[in-house]
Amino acid sequence: APGLVIAVDGPAAAGKGTLARRLAAALGLAYLDTGLLYRATGRRVLDAAADPRDPAAAELAARGLTPADLARGDLRGPEADLAASAVAAIPAVRAALLDWQRDFGRRRGAVLDGRDIGTVVFPDATVKLFVTASPAERARRRFLELQARGTAADPAQVAAELRARDEQDSRRAVAPLVPAADAMVLDTTELDPEAAFATAMAVVRQRM
Ligand code: C5P
Repeated sequence: APGLVIAVDGPAAAGKGTLARRLAAALGLAYLDTGLLYRATGRRVLDAAADPRDPAAAELAARGLTPADLARGDLRGPEADLAASAVAAIPAVRAALLDWQRDFGRRRGAVLDGRDIGTVVFPDATVKLFVTASPAERARRRFLELQARGTAADPAQVAAELRARDEQDSRRAVAPLVPAADAMVLDTTELDPEAAFATAMAVVRQRM
């Protein structure tokens, strides 16, 4: 359906990327991982040897983003995670990325995943899902993900990093991580990707 916008928000490692990608494929919609915009912005700030918490440096980096920045191979990992979360707390950065996300979604409909899609970017999205899971389960998934990529990781440290990022994303003044009032909360702690997808598709069909 043209113009269909599906917002998939939630904390890190809750399964929203996997779910959003599957929904997009099943519905023939474009997919945007909005976390990449913040990751690429954080990376550009680090490249410039600046501090990701510096509003002027971060805004400059956000305004200069190019498609090539989004395709970089070094946007994941603890350093990139924290830089992304730091630049994401800066209002001017969020403002710089807002129109781009809206244009992407409006063009021909899309599934977007992030933290504030249902609350700020597309408050009138057709469907809003808030995907979450217990902190222990999210830490377990992130640990396995890192292992699969061949990155040595310490489980306790992975859990601590997730906790720190959750806190930073939830407590910031602008566009904090919070479910939209009209979002359907999908707790995937006990769900495998297939079950999460089936549940989400049922919600989408109801609202289409
Ligand atoms: O989703 P992902 O973990 O890739 O996002 C990286 C960081 O970017 C998050 O920790 C969050 O601070 C920020 N982000 C955001 N708003 C979004 C998507 C990501 O603030 N819509």
